[in-house]
Amino acid sequence: MKNIKSYIDEHKDRFLNELIELLKIPSISADSAYKNDVLRTAEIIKISLEKAGCDSVEICETEGYPIVYGEKIIDSNLPTVLVYGHYDVQPPDPMDLWDSPPFEPVIKKTDIHPEGAIFARGSCDDKGQMYMHVKALEFMTSTNQLPCNVKFMIEGEEEVGSKSLSGFVKKNQEKLKNDVILISDTGMIAKDVPSITTGLRGLSYVEVEVTGPNRDLHSGLYGGAVANPINILTKMIASLHDGNNHITIPGFYDKVENLSKEERAEMAKAPFSLEDYKKSLDIDAVYGEEGYTTNERNSIRPTLDVNGIWGGYTGEGAKTVIASKAYAKISMRLVPNQDWEEITQLFKSHFEGIAPKGVTVKVTPHHGGQGYVTPINSLGYKAAAKAYTDTFGKTPIPQRSGGSIPIVSLFEQELKSKTILMGFGLDSDAIHSPNEHFGIWNYLKGIETIPLFYKYFTEMSK
Ligand code: BES
Ligand code: MN
Ligand code: MN
Repeated sequence: MKNIKSYIDEHKDRFLNELIELLKIPSISADSAYKNDVLRTAEIIKISLEKAGCDSVEICETEGYPIVYGEKIIDSNLPTVLVYGHYDVQPPDPMDLWDSPPFEPVIKKTDIHPEGAIFARGSCDDKGQMYMHVKALEFMTSTNQLPCNVKFMIEGEEEVGSKSLSGFVKKNQEKLKNDVILISDTGMIAKDVPSITTGLRGLSYVEVEVTGPNRDLHSGLYGGAVANPINILTKMIASLHDGNNHITIPGFYDKVENLSKEERAEMAKAPFSLEDYKKSLDIDAVYGEEGYTTNERNSIRPTLDVNGIWGGYTGEGAKTVIASKAYAKISMRLVPNQDWEEITQLFKSHFEGIAPKGVTVKVTPHHGGQGYVTPINSLGYKAAAKAYTDTFGKTPIPQRSGGSIPIVSLFEQELKSKTILMGFGLDSDAIHSPNEHFGIWNYLKGIETIPLFYKYFTEMSK
């Protein structure tokens, strides 16, 4: 494509400043106190899509937060790329661990990002990565190089389970009709090791509540004589893994896809240093399911993790008390063929079944979604690989990720097209954590690579 590098060079300050403005708005979908900020962000996305050259952009109201939909149709005989992203962000807590306020973006240099990185909640997940697509569109329309049709669908509820989007997709199949779906909401191996995400894990997220006596009790007067819900809950949770760190829920592994020796050997070729991995996390050993490597444990194997646990007295000093209730939030990452609703049911009946007499257990499912795998011989993958090869000077490595974007499997089911996950983030970008950041180099590299995807996808479709 003509002039992409010079266009980026000429406009990069503006590209950065526009993203910084977007990052200043705390569009936290999980916290209703930020409702107006989330809504305001949708308006800004709408305006930016119009400025980037979309012919029509609408804010589609839903029962939850709106979906911003825009399109530019140049010729119905040409292929159509559907871009998906999200404008909502995770809550920033814990606030005291941020070196600078999460919604006051600053550019700082790091070892990995000597060119500088933007520190702010949502910089990588997903405002920064989503905005690369807006700027790539701006480049293509303003230089008359948009080779095909494009549709944008940017939602505001990804971080809370994309509830409204599933209905929207089911109701608008004609409107959303496309030949390939393009998403930048994942990562790559390293700046000098480009990779394309070929798999996502599914998810089942549940909350459990254990109730013992009808009120909090003196732990001296009653301790030892009645079930302590916190003791019981932790014992129950501990029993969910065996000595080899296999999950003990009956039926949990029944449908898990088993990779062949060859596939596992292929995976093991991706560059990875266990020493660097441990060092980056300040741990002296890794931990996980017996019989699998670290990269297998966090991508092709299902897991169960407690995300939060509470109950009883946690204030200053000591209080002798047996709490009436104990709670935990538990996530299970799932792999292809495991059905999230079925796994949720298995969890529920198992967890309720192992509760001893003297307590009652309630399991409340939150949200979930199926995993996803995509082949590397599809047109979309080949076009993406060619685009990366141009801009990185290397063939990208296909890599399955451990994270989840549950809506992707629904896209394939309802819209019958493949999703290409062109992520430009790094694991060290600290998404969902304090000090989330996105490298300026990565941001601009994304803007440079995306138009080439359009070009090659259109050419290959002929
Ligand atoms: N963008 C992430 C998912 C992701 C990140 C996938 C990096 C692969 C690599 C997304 O915003 C996210 O956080 N998803 C949630 C699930 C959702 C239902 C809350 C997740 O994976 O925990
Ligand atoms: Mn995301
Ligand atoms: Mn996220």
